Amino acid sequence: MSKRSLVAPHGGELVNRCVSAAAGGRDGLACTIQLTERQRCDLEMIAIGAMSPLTGFMGQADYNSVCERMRLEDGTAWPIPITCAVDSDTAGKIEVGAKVGLHDDKDRVLGVLTVTEKYAHDKTKQAEAVFKTTEDAHPGVKVLKSEGDVCLAGPIDVTTANHESQFPEFNLSPAKMRAEFTKRGWTTVVGFQTRNPIHRAHEYLTKCAQEICDGLLIHPLVGQTQPGDIPPDVRMACYMTIIEKYYHPDHTMLAVLPAAMRYAGPREAILHAILRQNYGCSHFIVGRDHAGVGKYYGTYDAQEIFEEFEPGDLAITTLNFEHAAWSKQAGGMVSGKTFPKIDGDQIFLSGTKVREMLGRGERPPIEFTRPEVADILINSMKS
Ligand code: ADX
Repeated sequence: MSKRSLVAPHGGELVNRCVSAAAGGRDGLACTIQLTERQRCDLEMIAIGAMSPLTGFMGQADYNSVCERMRLEDGTAWPIPITCAVDSDTAGKIEVGAKVGLHDDKDRVLGVLTVTEKYAHDKTKQAEAVFKTTEDAHPGVKVLKSEGDVCLAGPIDVTTANHESQFPEFNLSPAKMRAEFTKRGWTTVVGFQTRNPIHRAHEYLTKCAQEICDGLLIHPLVGQTQPGDIPPDVRMACYMTIIEKYYHPDHTMLAVLPAAMRYAGPREAILHAILRQNYGCSHFIVGRDHAGVGKYYGTYDAQEIFEEFEPGDLAITTLNFEHAAWSKQAGGMVSGKTFPKIDGDQIFLSGTKVREMLGRGERPPIEFTRPEVADILINSMKS
């Protein structure tokens, strides 16, 4: 990669499947189907080019290849099937070649799918390959199992990907994000995925990474998450506050990723990296248990999985971080790599413990969370 240009999109070119409302009319549609929230999020990511080189929902050859070897059929690295599954009755009424209108849960038009293929949705195979479990207790598996039994594949043309976009001023397409990086004079940019408020450990990782890149993109995922996760509007208030007070404005940018969370740990870390490459990031942070849930994945599985690829498969470089926490002895943030582990030295609080403290209106220690962030969380819990 030249120092003077941004990283290339995955597969070489940014896809754009957004069309004008006039081009996406209802004429000639065989029928319409309602997308699930996960499918709608994927539709948005494909349409704006964040899932380049995908131009639509995957066909069977790609589906199998992705499950079995983490590659599209043509060899391009890709970790998770991107599908549009419907129930068998609906699928039975749709012919290959038909144009199918795609609607959201409030029956608003999103776009059109031109069906090139129909195939059985092998949920067990997909769950085992992607989530490493078929247990319903896994939130990603639960969503997968609730989907239809037949996948419709084909290119999409999208008029409005999201009728309720919550943060339009922070929702930049990959093309716009790239233009913004260029305007700022950034060629090396590190992307930071998160679905939580920024705690001190997150701050440590982002700032370490920022030292070696022109810019830091704080890129929280704000699409579908699981019940119990902190809502995006509360998180956005936290991000804006911490950035304003504790980050350098010339080297920090906040934008949202309107993707669905799958909680697929290692495989999702790869997807997260590919998405950020498409947005123009040269580097991507992978810490401990990235995109994990419960005890389904090992602490560093999401870092190690990248070793299964060949050099050149992904243009984005991952920056791996060991578990970070505040050390009383060192008087600062440390990781297993920067300071030896001493019993009782590190300030560690479980998510449950933090939630309990916040629920009682108590700020967690400053070494764990900035007080300004804690106050926003306390107030959100009160309301
Ligand atoms: S995630 O689902 O988006 O991965 P989270 O928002 O908690 O969850 O984490 C964002 C990023 O920070 C991930 O790369 C994760 O691995 C990393 N991370 C979170 N906490 C720590 C920590 N204490 N030490 C090292 N990395 C961490």
